[in-house]
This record gives sequence, C-alpha cells and structure tokens, in this order.
Amino acid sequence: MDDAIRLNRFLARCGLGSRRGCEDLIRAGRVSVNGVVASDLSVKVFAGKDIVMVDGELVSLPDETITIMLHKPSGYVTTMSDPQGRPCVASLVPIDAHPSLFPVGRLDFDTTGLLLFTTDGKLGHALLHPRHHVRKSYYALVDGMPSLKELASLREGIQLDDGMTQPCEVELLEGTAREEALALMGAAEVERAFDEGCADGRISSKSFKDAALVFVAIREGRKRQVKRMLSAIGHPVISLHRPSFGPLLLGDLPRGFWRSITNEESALLYETIAHEDGFRG
Ligand code: URA
Repeated sequence: MDDAIRLNRFLARCGLGSRRGCEDLIRAGRVSVNGVVASDLSVKVFAGKDIVMVDGELVSLPDETITIMLHKPSGYVTTMSDPQGRPCVASLVPIDAHPSLFPVGRLDFDTTGLLLFTTDGKLGHALLHPRHHVRKSYYALVDGMPSLKELASLREGIQLDDGMTQPCEVELLEGTAREEALALMGAAEVERAFDEGCADGRISSKSFKDAALVFVAIREGRKRQVKRMLSAIGHPVISLHRPSFGPLLLGDLPRGFWRSITNEESALLYETIAHEDGFRG
C-alpha cells in the first residue's frame, strides 16, 4: 500500500491549491478526515482509504496513470498470462505495483523491440485505433536480397490474404546504416537467428552479409503484417526488431528492461492522438 502523506500535500495533489494554501484550509477548520475536523497540520492520510472532506465535499486524487516502454526480448508472448506456460511480457514490467498495466498492441514471440504499456485505457485504445495511423518502424533481416522492384511494390501496397496493404516506407539499409541498425537489434542475437535458420534449411542466403536488412515503417497494425509483407515478395523475415512506436524511440534501453516515458514523450504521445474527435487525454 502507498505510504501516508501529509494532509496539505494530499489536498494540493487533489487540485485544491498550493501546499501553503491548503495549510490555510486546514487551519480554518474546513477540512475533515474520517469525520473529524483536522486542526493539526501534521495529520497524515492514506490516499484511497481515509475519507477527506473540504467544506463537507469529498475530495480525492485524480486517477494517476503510468505509461512505460519495454525492450521486449525474443522468446516472450505479448500477453499478461499464458495458459501454455510460455514466458510472458507481464513478468518484465512492474505489474505488482500497477496491476492495470496492459500492452499497447503486440509483438510476436520472436520479435524484439519497443513495446508500450499503459494503465490509461483511453490512451492505449486510441493509439491502436486505425484512424490515428500511428507509425511503427521495424528493422527486418530477410533471406536474400530484394530487388528495387520488389521494394517498390511493398512501398506502394501489396496484396495479402486479408487485403491490400497501405503505402508505407521501405528502405534497404546498407553500409553504416546496416551496421547501426544491427547494433540496435543486437548483432550477436541476429547472427544467431541467421545461423539457426541456415541449420534447419529455412535460409538460402549463403552468408550473413547476403541477407538484406530492410527498414519498414507502417501505419497499420495487422497481425504479423511485416513478416507477411516480406514473405509476399519472396524474402521471409529471419529476425524482426521495432526501434520506434509513434514518436517514441527505444534508443539504448537494454533488452528486457523498461522505463517510464518522460513528460515530454507523454506530451508527444497525446499529441499523436489529439486530433481524434472527442478524445480527452
Ligand atoms: N509485424 C510482424 O510481422 N510481427 C511483429 O511482431 C510486428 C509487426
């Protein structure tokens, strides 16, 4: 349970003014705790447990929400529990302290990268709503080298079994851009996935450098979309990583770790969805 906090601090967090101003309310005998007028400034309360009233009106803290980003490792399902007993992303985030955290969208079992979690249901659902076209970027190591024509067809939109994809960004990463992307993906892990694919005969590329690294940014969120798009042009994905989600960048957050988003990032996220009719962050 949360620690007790000083009454003036509690009142200030409830939006009743500055802590000094709230001390004046207490001194004036306008505040009661559990039915007893609080005349002493040292009184402490437990938020959500003690009944605090000002001028006979109940006051409470605004709902506090948290939003965090996780660097999802490979080998975890994007669910809060798994009947098959597979490792779940829930075990990597502070679910005990924030039981209402939920993942915003999903990454496949073997996909790594930025997975957002929030306790703010409205935010989470708005970010997933197709009307917001939130941009998600991916680095995909694929089997073989796609031609310029194949990459252009992805860019323009391609037929999948659930319909045409929308136009999207697609770039072949070479030289330094490839090295930088591989570093963010975890080069050793990506090479391991390549070696495993070679060992079980799934990969036709003769060496690691013959496998192309492709940057894809989509604004849709269909199931296994990036893998299906690349398979559709004949270059199945060997390893997939998401470095960004909307305005948020994973950066160098270590694999398996999470961090709270900053106030600045939070403002950018809410801006992303602000144009929705009627949405109030
Ligand atoms: N597209 C995929 O194919 N898989 C993911 O995990 C995310 C996007």
